[in-house]
Amino acid sequence: MSTTIESVLHETRLFPPSEEFKAQAAISGMEAYKALCAKAEADYEGFWAELARENVVWQQPFTVTLDESGAPFYKWFSDGKLNASYNCLDKNVEAGLGDKTAIIFEADGGEVSKVTYKELLARVSQFANALKSLGVQKGDRVVIYLPMSVEGVIAMQACARIGATHSVVFGGFSAHALRDRIEDAGAVLVITADEQCRGGRNMPLKPAVDEAIGLGGCGSIRNVIVFKRTGGPVEWAEGRDLWWHDVVAGQPLECEPEWVDAEHPLFLLYTSGSTGKPKGVQHSTGGYLLHSIVTMKWTFDIKPTDVYWCTADIGWITGHTYVTYGPLACGATEVVFEGVPTYPDAGRFWRMIQDHKVSVFYTAPTAIRSLIKLAGAHPELHPGKFDLSSLRLLGTVGEPINPEAWMWFHEAVGGSRCPIADTWWQTETGGHMITPLPGVTPTVPGSCTLPLPGIMAAIVDETGHDVEWGKGGLLVVKKPWPSMIRTIWNDPDRFRKSYFPEDLGGKLYLAGDGSVRDPETGYFTIMGRIDDVLNVSGHRLGTMEIESALVAHPLVAEAAVVGKPHDVKGEAVVAYVVLKRARPTGDEAKEIVKQLRDWVGHEIGPIAKPDEIRFGDNLPKTRSGKIMRRLLRALAKGEEITQDVSTLENPAILDQLNEAVK
Ligand code: WT7
Repeated sequence: MSTTIESVLHETRLFPPSEEFKAQAAISGMEAYKALCAKAEADYEGFWAELARENVVWQQPFTVTLDESGAPFYKWFSDGKLNASYNCLDKNVEAGLGDKTAIIFEADGGEVSKVTYKELLARVSQFANALKSLGVQKGDRVVIYLPMSVEGVIAMQACARIGATHSVVFGGFSAHALRDRIEDAGAVLVITADEQCRGGRNMPLKPAVDEAIGLGGCGSIRNVIVFKRTGGPVEWAEGRDLWWHDVVAGQPLECEPEWVDAEHPLFLLYTSGSTGKPKGVQHSTGGYLLHSIVTMKWTFDIKPTDVYWCTADIGWITGHTYVTYGPLACGATEVVFEGVPTYPDAGRFWRMIQDHKVSVFYTAPTAIRSLIKLAGAHPELHPGKFDLSSLRLLGTVGEPINPEAWMWFHEAVGGSRCPIADTWWQTETGGHMITPLPGVTPTVPGSCTLPLPGIMAAIVDETGHDVEWGKGGLLVVKKPWPSMIRTIWNDPDRFRKSYFPEDLGGKLYLAGDGSVRDPETGYFTIMGRIDDVLNVSGHRLGTMEIESALVAHPLVAEAAVVGKPHDVKGEAVVAYVVLKRARPTGDEAKEIVKQLRDWVGHEIGPIAKPDEIRFGDNLPKTRSGKIMRRLLRALAKGEEITQDVSTLENPAILDQLNEAVK
């Protein structure tokens, strides 16, 4: 990563928005942006209140904008009432968009189906009635473990409609990870599918739910609803398991939305932190929905004529804000894609953009990097071979984008005419925070540029004081904003300690990223996490989670996990392992590496499998017994060791730990 940051810091190419784009943009020109920022500075609450009145339909209007009495447990619009599903569906149908296509669904195998707003409203209402018939009530937690599908969106919207709090678990997580989330959330119901289809292969999903429940701790679960995706074999627990098509049969197509308080938890989404236990990030209804709508307009300049496509899975926050809620709340037509970018070949994205005439395209740097590689090997799959003239705006999310990948995205995909929004944000922020605005911001490859109006981002030192532009520091947000995390489910104390630490004065939101501002433009560049969190292909993974998975294996005595730069994935997982028996070598080492990788895949999910495992007789520790992670990171990168290693009991282990099992 360090070479990337170097090159970003020396990046001088500047790409101003075209006059043509600027002329039609929701926010047009730097003056307009500055005026909005000034308005937010002058009257912070008034700024957000006005946006909330303009963009959200309230069943009962709010009179209180921001309630800071319980800080840092902030409340927004707290005496207002609304329903998120009403705002995404009924509102559009009532406005005459009933026959407009809401979702263009493309399956892994290429089949395309379309759903209008009217149909989506009917299907969501019907499924909502089915949930109610099973006794699901406002405030109950419902775990959704579904592949990318229209049903995934329906399940989330139906929960929102009846005031149940959903918690989507990414289909790539294992039964163990699923169990932990069900247990922590105390969910009453799981919604899943028999199998999921990715890259031409059918992979079981329902068996993981059975296994999760079998592991224990899921006593709160009353039912499992199973969407029949493939017809693959499933086991059945009579009385507990129900087919999706059976539970909706005969249910009315209308369902009065449950009006909830603005602060009602719309969803929990589990994400990794610096301890082994994932955090249940709790989001609100009103503030969250507001930000999803406003950023669709500001960042994506969404227009009634757009065909919008965000490639993220609904298992991640991007799939929540920019697949399930934001685009629908704006009455947009969006593409939902079941498959992977490389199947049946690496031209899949470009062919889909061409076929569906996609105009706004939002994806992850890791996908771009893998497609650059593949286009190199298969020139016929280069984006230039497809008609991408429908594109007018591009976005990236999830990890730093290296300037080379940015330039390729700009030229080969965007035909040098589309602005790129490099959007920095997090599960906890709910939506975009720092990003170029397409009709405003001259972009610089690799920089997420400037905060949105009303987002008070800054860089501070370890004591919470501002650092000068040009100096690196901790990325913070100085004021609460409507879509911020409300708490960590079941763990308010961890919420306070993780995000509003006393060292920084207890009032600044600590993002967990390092950042630096350009001395001249003030543009932000993200330098990566400052905690023990890795970003592998845009997926957030805690090193401690992987370590606890490893030490749960009967052979393992101790483990330490660090990241190392990877040209496609951004970061790769490197695990240093001490076994309970002698350090293995040769074929035996290879065999144990395979076992341990499979084990981690089973404990967490395939995304967490270490790319590299190194065995040592012990791990390097300080005198006080702390693992010397900085040293391990340097070793993983193959860097020269500059740290003091005089405290090591056995300096010879450095040679052992330098040796990856090939
Ligand atoms: C972490 C949050 C944002 C939704 C998807 C990931 C990294 C995110 C960028 C960006 C550099 C980025 C940060 C952040 N990150 N966007 N544009 N440039 N880094 O959400 O799983 O909560 O991860 O992703 O390190 O803290 P997440």
